[in-house]
Amino acid sequence: MTETLEGTEASPAQDPRQDGVHWQRFAVAFDYPVHFTRGLFDPANPVLAETLARLEPDRCHRCLVFLDDGLLTVRPRLAEEIAAYAEAWAARMALVAPAFVMPGGERLKSELYFVEQMQQALFDHHIDRHSYVVGVGGGALLDAVGLVAATTHRGVRHVRVPTTVLAQNDSGVGVKNGVNLHGQKNFVGTFAPPFAVLNDGEMTDALPARDKVAGMAEAVKVALIRDGAFFAWLERQADALVLFEGAAMAHMIRRCAELHMRQIAQGGDPFETGSARPLDYGHWAAHKLEGMTRNHLRHGEAVAIGLALDARYSVLTGLLAPGEEARICCLLEHLGFKLWHPALDKRGPSGRHAVLDGLRDFREHLGGELTITLLAGIGTGVEVHEMDEALIAQAIAWLKQRTAD
Ligand SMILES: NC(=O)c1ccc[n+]([C@@H]2O[C@H](COP(=O)([O-])OP(=O)(O)OC[C@H]3O[C@@H](n4cnc5c(N)ncnc54)[C@H](O)[C@@H]3O)[C@@H](O)[C@H]2O)c1
Ligand SMILES: [Zn+2]
Repeated sequence: MTETLEGTEASPAQDPRQDGVHWQRFAVAFDYPVHFTRGLFDPANPVLAETLARLEPDRCHRCLVFLDDGLLTVRPRLAEEIAAYAEAWAARMALVAPAFVMPGGERLKSELYFVEQMQQALFDHHIDRHSYVVGVGGGALLDAVGLVAATTHRGVRHVRVPTTVLAQNDSGVGVKNGVNLHGQKNFVGTFAPPFAVLNDGEMTDALPARDKVAGMAEAVKVALIRDGAFFAWLERQADALVLFEGAAMAHMIRRCAELHMRQIAQGGDPFETGSARPLDYGHWAAHKLEGMTRNHLRHGEAVAIGLALDARYSVLTGLLAPGEEARICCLLEHLGFKLWHPALDKRGPSGRHAVLDGLRDFREHLGGELTITLLAGIGTGVEVHEMDEALIAQAIAWLKQRTAD
């Protein structure tokens, strides 16, 4: 008879006759606040200082900040603003060094050198598990900083300050991080919920128009798969969104973030152990197009093309009512997206569309069965496990023709 270890118990899956097996089982609850505020680094705004003090209100917390250099083109004095904020809240927080400025955008995720450089900073400044690493930037910077925080000392506290529309309404509120390797997006990364997410509306006000538009693709995406009423709202508000009107932008970002958060918390698989990536509608083609265009297409711009392609494909397979794909394309175009890129037409030696390799990459990222989200209606995503390459080619031809007309 095997000894029983204290604290272990029989798993329901355990065969009671099985000897010599102790099932280890425990659950860990994750929770983190996602704030929507303005003027985060204004000393009159307590959100950051109170966030850092959430667990130990009586301590001064050590912080190391990484800043996206793209942000500095529009807020050149941001590092000084953060230093002044820390000074004003000196009882709660102390910067271990002036903010480190890192290159923003996909380049940061594409050279491991930057990950090492950031880890070096954590080492040099003795960042421990009770200190904070604060990332202030776009989705690319947050993905790379998140990886650094999650892997240093097996995980230090990480506060995200997303500064693009896409990072505020999608990537920044989630639980994933990662960098690119071997030409594959997010080949190296972890699931690591942040300590807190602090969305500052002033940051996105300053964003160039191209990036404001790009981030709206994720709102259209999540509306398409989860919330038909939100899609109708986006249609009604398209004129305001094109002009980046404050109230419309704020609602778009907030509703999109909420829908992403709900999927992660209530979708049943926050760490994607199954084969499905329900939030990645339109992304099998998008990720491939980003790589094929050497990131000439922004993530959101490639996503918009992916959404349109899979909408047409959904119609061709009989899942989605004819005409709905045109409605989706009209909204995307109204918002400012181009739904055609010559990379879609690129062929391999056999004449096969090169973008189709995106299906293989998508499956390999998770392993298991190929699982692609398509549309059964506006607001209703469905999962399929096979994609017909001839029909995808027809969908590509339709997009090309549509844009030529
Ligand atoms: N972890 C996830 O769950 C997840 C989800 C979706 C996307 N992503 C990743 O997010 C990345 C895309 O993020 P993104 O769309 O935020 O783009 P980005 O991070 O590439 O930023 C785009 C550009 O904007 C600059 N920038 C950032 N904030 C600015 C500001 N306020 N003003 C002016 N310039 C600013 C950056 O320097 C960069 O040049 C991709 O790498 C994608 O894979 C991750
Ligand atoms: Zn995306």
